[in-house]
Parts: sequence; C-alpha cells; structure tokens
Amino acid sequence: MARSWSLLLPLALALVASVAQAAVVEYTFNVGNLSISQLCQQEMIITAVNGQLPGPTIVATEGDTVVVHMVNESPYNMTIHWHGIFQRGTPWADGPAMVTQCPVHPGGNYTYRYNVTGQEGTLWWHSHISFLRATVYGALIIKPRGGTKAYPFPKPDEEEVVVLGEWWKDNVNELHVNATETGVPARHADAYTINGKPGDFYGCSDPNQTHKFELKQNKTYMLRIINAALNTPLFFKVANHSFTVVAADACYTKPYNTDVVVISPGQTVDALLVPDTGVAAMGGRYYMAVIPYDSAVNNDQPDRLYSLTNGTAIVDYTGGEATSTPMLPDMPKYNDTATAHRFLSNLTALVPNRVPLAVDTHMFVTAGMGDTFCGPEQTRCMPNPPINGTIFASSMNNASFILPKTTSMLEAMYRGSIAGVYTRDFPDTPPIVFDYTADEIEMNKTLKHTLKSTKVKTLKYNQTVQMVLQNTRFVSKESHPMHLHGFNFFVLAQGFGNYDETTDTAKFNLVDPQERNTVAVPTGGWAVIRFVADNPGMWFMHCHFDAHLDFGLGMVFEVQNGPTPETSLPPPPSDLPQC
Ligand code: C2O
Repeated sequence: MARSWSLLLPLALALVASVAQAAVVEYTFNVGNLSISQLCQQEMIITAVNGQLPGPTIVATEGDTVVVHMVNESPYNMTIHWHGIFQRGTPWADGPAMVTQCPVHPGGNYTYRYNVTGQEGTLWWHSHISFLRATVYGALIIKPRGGTKAYPFPKPDEEEVVVLGEWWKDNVNELHVNATETGVPARHADAYTINGKPGDFYGCSDPNQTHKFELKQNKTYMLRIINAALNTPLFFKVANHSFTVVAADACYTKPYNTDVVVISPGQTVDALLVPDTGVAAMGGRYYMAVIPYDSAVNNDQPDRLYSLTNGTAIVDYTGGEATSTPMLPDMPKYNDTATAHRFLSNLTALVPNRVPLAVDTHMFVTAGMGDTFCGPEQTRCMPNPPINGTIFASSMNNASFILPKTTSMLEAMYRGSIAGVYTRDFPDTPPIVFDYTADEIEMNKTLKHTLKSTKVKTLKYNQTVQMVLQNTRFVSKESHPMHLHGFNFFVLAQGFGNYDETTDTAKFNLVDPQERNTVAVPTGGWAVIRFVADNPGMWFMHCHFDAHLDFGLGMVFEVQNGPTPETSLPPPPSDLPQC
C-alpha cells in the first residue's frame, strides 16, 4: 500500500474524481493440460492456464475490481494466489491451499474476486498447491489511475513483461509427491526460462525455444521483471545495457542505476532498460540472461546443486533481420553474495514512508533448515543419513509448518472451531538463544531437530508487528525469500551474522525503507520487517522456495476482527470450494 501521503493524496483525489470509472476486469482461467515440447525433448503434458506458458497477463487499473473465473480442467487439485494483492476485505480470494480455501477439485471451479485499490505496479499470480506453480503462473499489472503519465519516473515508450521461471523435464506434481513421500527434496530445475522459454544454451538449437524482444532504437522500454522460479534466486542482465530500477514488489523506489538485477522467487522489479551508447546508435542483437544466485553454504555438501547454464532471451533491434550471434552479458559468479546484497539492500522507497514508530508485537524468528522424524506422510521414507532415522525439515522458531488436511484455516477461524485445524502458540522467540550462524554449530544440536505443527500467531486488529528474521545454519545457511500474504512490510535493516538488538537498531531506516512483500533474508544473516495488521484474516508467511515451504518453512498470522463490520471477516462466497 502506498502509505506515504504525498503519494496517497493525488491517488485519493484521482479516486474521488473517477470512482465512476473504476472498472470490473474479468478473466476466465481454464486450467488444464497443455502438450509442449521443450529443450528439444518429446512432447510432454504440463498444467497451464488457457493453454499458455506463461499464463495470461492480467491488466487492471488501480481501484478496479478483478474477477477471475477459475475452471479446473486439470487432473490435479488447484488454487490460484494473487501474489502481492492485499485482499482487503476479500480474504477468501487469497488462494493458498488449506490456508484460505480448500482446493478446487478436478472438474470444479471457483471465482476469485478482489479489488486492486491503493497499490500499483507489477505483481503476479501463481498456483498455490503442490509444485504446480512451476507452470501455472503469469503477470498481474496494475496501472496508475492517471495512466502511464502518472508514473513517478520518465514515462517509457513501451513496456515488456519478463517472467523468469524454472523448467523440469519431469511432471512437477510427481516430483512433489515423491519429495513428500520420501522426505528427500526434489532435484533442482533442468533449465531457467524467460517468458517460458529456456534459450540457446541447453543444447537445443530450435529458435522457438528462445523468447525474442523486438525493440526499436530511440525508444525507451520498461521491463516488468518477475521471478516465478520455484527455488532459485536469479542474477539478471542484458548485454550492453544497464537498468534504472523504479519499483520493486509494486512499490516505487528511488531510481537506482545498476547493470545487474537480483531477484528472488516471489519478487518483482520494474526497471527502465538503458542501452549503452553504441547500442543506441547502431542497434544489433543482445542476450538477456539469467543465472542462479546460489546463496547456500552447506555443512556437509560442499558442492552447489544448481545447473549453471544461462537461461536466455534475445533483445533484437534489427527488426528480425540480423543473424549475427548476440553477445552474452558477463554474469556474476553463482555465489556472488556481495553483488546480491548490494542490490537488495540499496533499494529505498521513492518518497518518505509512514513507518509506524511504536511497535505492539516484537517477534524474533529463526528460519532455516533442520531435520525431523519420518512422519505418516513419508510412506516411502528415506532417512538421510539412514542411521539416525531423520529426514530434511525446515522451520521457523523450531516449528515446522504443516498444512491442515480437512478444513482450511480461514474457515476454522471464521466458524470459531479451530480444534484439530491449528493452534495459537506460534512462539515470539526461538526456544533458546544460541549462536544462530556459527560456522560449525556445535551448540545444542537438539535444536536442529523439529516437529511438525500448524501454529499461528494471533494478532489484534491494527497491531504493529516487528519481526526479526534470523537465518540459522544447522544444515546450511541460505538466503530465504520470506513472503507475507495480505500486507506489504517495510524492510528496516538487513545484515550478516546474528542480529544484535543493542547495535543493530541504530541501523534501522525509519525514513524511506523499501516496502516489499518478499524479502530475501541475507544468507547467514537477518532482516527486520515491520507492518500493520489492519486486515483480518489468515495470512501465510513463508519461504518462497517451494522446496522449503513444503518442508515446513512457514507460519500463519491470524489477524482478528476490528471494531466494525468493514473491519471484520466477511462470510465466505457461496462457491467456496469444499474439501
Ligand atoms: Cu507467491 Cu504464498 O506465495
């Protein structure tokens, strides 16, 4: 939400002037089988919306109502999440399976209806069940009410959507089932994609496998970049071009000049594309490329797990004429944490923010990897190492989150019968204080061990919450992209090592901190976020690596009703799916 008055005021005036113009934008999403050949492999069946990969781009104007009729023609249970949309007053439309709704069964349908009020920029949508978002995703663009003239930066001539993804040669639902049953994490992707296509470096010379951006010289372009990958933060570059970043997660930033964009799963970046002088004069063809930022530093597994082949697209100024081979940009090294941190910590809000200064609820939350015992879901449990009978798990404050099976959490909250669905004991602090990021964690190894639970943190309406997110390195340290549903938060500070309250509060930016819905907590480090819980509902907070979410890296905020009907949970829509 644009919390700054200088931004909000013109917005409010525009709203008053144009309430009558607020439109309903309506889409039908048929989710079904799509037969596709990728990487010169045989045709395979994936799950996709309207037969498209990426799926359709939703375009709305600030203040509009978005209505999406989702028809599930796929063989899988399905839900869609509108990543970054506040869902104020429409918590039943948020989409995470078993948090705000039961999934839509094959053959079923559900209509998602929500307003895009008080936010503008680039967001996206994705399925929120199993690993199906690997192919069920697309852009969601909210234009300013005043049109592109209202951009608080030089108006670009054109805009391009750039959705980054991951591709597996296998059925991703099977990968998910296998990971669940064995307790062994699914393997990393076979390729990285730009607008659904892997590009020229995967040993497949089919030109249809490379997305082409046909650009014109002397025109300015804005890229709306979305990281829709399941598990991989990415470095993003275009040869012989640089960028001016103007927004992140649909919040305007001070213009930030850089030759590399760093983007973690769940995040978006809007950037003006700046050609080098030679390009502006002569045109030509250039590679746009992504490569993983692999932040993990493992204790037992010194080798990186990612494929390090560039996913590519081509930026073409020749009108499709030239056939010369484009140059690849010089990519950062896969473990270049300094470059990632520089980008991610240097962004600031365009104008001073209204950061709430008084905090009602202080939370210190560890986030990372550990282990747990084989549970009932691990029907083919493969403990690793086999001797101690444990499998990989991830947790927050030593609680490893598991979704309920029979009733969605929001329905349980609404009906006031939470027994057997969730408990209200998510802790504000880890069970003990320890050296969270020590290179060799020799302290109490029992903390590495975690149990499965469905714990929420209950907040009174309008409370201001501050959460310190502290990475641990029991198994490995890693930069987890922590995403909060239902709200944006201010990122007050970030750093490496253990957060120290006596010295690190001095580093808080309370003036113009970046506002986001997903923060990449520095590897082996911490980030401090703050938000106001002014939206009743059940709001998932989790790592946006599906591999980690699946193994428990999440928790849920239960935000209680406010004093009025408008600030209370609405009844569920009549077509809300049943479990
Ligand atoms: Cu885009 Cu719960 O996530």
